[in-house]
Amino acid sequence: MQVEVKSGTDQYTVQQTRLQSVIEQVSSRDMIITDTNVLACYPALSNSKGQIISIPAGEESKSFVQYEAVVEQIFQAGFLRNGTVFAIGGGVVGDLAGFVAATVHRGVRLVQVPTSLLAMVDSSVGGKVGIDLSYGKNLLGSFYNPASVYIDPTVLQTLPTEHFQNGMAEVIKYGWILDVELLEILKKENFSVNSHNLEEIVFRCVALKRDVVEADFTEKSGLRAILNFGHTVGHALEAQAEYKNLLHGQAIAVGMVAEVAIANELGLSQIRTQDVESLFQQYQLPIRPTSYVNIDQLISLMLGDKKSTGNGIAMSLVLEPGQCKLVDNIDPALVRRVLANIWS
Ligand code: GLY
Repeated sequence: MQVEVKSGTDQYTVQQTRLQSVIEQVSSRDMIITDTNVLACYPALSNSKGQIISIPAGEESKSFVQYEAVVEQIFQAGFLRNGTVFAIGGGVVGDLAGFVAATVHRGVRLVQVPTSLLAMVDSSVGGKVGIDLSYGKNLLGSFYNPASVYIDPTVLQTLPTEHFQNGMAEVIKYGWILDVELLEILKKENFSVNSHNLEEIVFRCVALKRDVVEADFTEKSGLRAILNFGHTVGHALEAQAEYKNLLHGQAIAVGMVAEVAIANELGLSQIRTQDVESLFQQYQLPIRPTSYVNIDQLISLMLGDKKSTGNGIAMSLVLEPGQCKLVDNIDPALVRRVLANIWS
C-alpha cells in the first residue's frame, strides 16, 4: 500500500515497507534517532551502518533540553549535511528528530519511520515537527516535509495495548472530522494489534490526512486545523500534566468529548455526547480527566493555543459527523462553564 503526498513544493511517498529493509538503507553518513523502547524491541537497529542517537521514551523528551542534547550528539558524531536523519519511533521521536533535521545545517534529508499507530496515522505525515514548551504543546517547531515515510504495520504487534489505544484516538478523530463510514467500521470491528485489516485503516487515515495537508500545508486557510479536533482541550491537559502520565491519545479523547459538549452549548451541533463517548469507551480510552484538573489554568493554556488569534479560545469543532470547522473567539467563560459541568 502507498499514498503519494504533494505538499508545498515537496512530494513524497508514504509506503508500506518492512523495517528491516529500511535499516538496510541506512548508510554510514546517516543518523538514526530513536528511543530507548524502540531500540530495546529492535536491536537490529544497532546493526545498521549509521550511527544511533537514542532518547528516553516518553513525551517529556519532546523538550528543549532533549533537542539540545540530540543536536550536541549529532555534531559530535560529525554528521554532515549530505546525511539523512532516520526518525524511527513514535510521535515524540518523529517530532523531535524532524525538528533536528529541519534545523541542523539549516535542514537535512529526513525519513520518517513511524513505529506507533499514532505516528503512522498522524504525526509522521504532513511535515509538522517540533517540541513542547512549558507554555504549551508543539509551540516551537516548523513545517518540514520528510523525503519518505516508511510504514511497517507488523511492528504494531510489539506495541503495548495502551499505546495502541492511544493511536486509536487519532483514528477515531478522522471518523468524526472527515469519514463517517470509518466510524461505522470502527464500531463494528473491534480493532486490535492483531487485526488482519489494520493496515487498511492505517492507510485510509494517511489518505485522509494527505487530502488535508495537500490543501492547506501550513495551516493558513484553517482547513488543516480540523485535524486538531479535541486538541485545544487535549493539549492544555497535556501541558497541565507537564507531559507526564498522560498519553496524547488519552488527552485528545477527553478533549473530543469536551469539545462536542462545547459545540452543543454554542448551538453549532446536536451530536449526543454519549455517541462520542461510546466509541472511546469501546477502545478503552478515557472520556473524562482521570486526575485533578485546574480548569482556570486550563483556560489560560487554551488561550495560548497555537490556533488562537487573541480573540477568545479557538477550537476545531465537529458540526455533524464527518464535518468539522475551526471556530475562533469562543468565550472562555462558556468553556469554563461546560468543562465544570461535564467534569463535575
Ligand atoms: N497533527 C495535526 C496536523 O498534522 O496538523
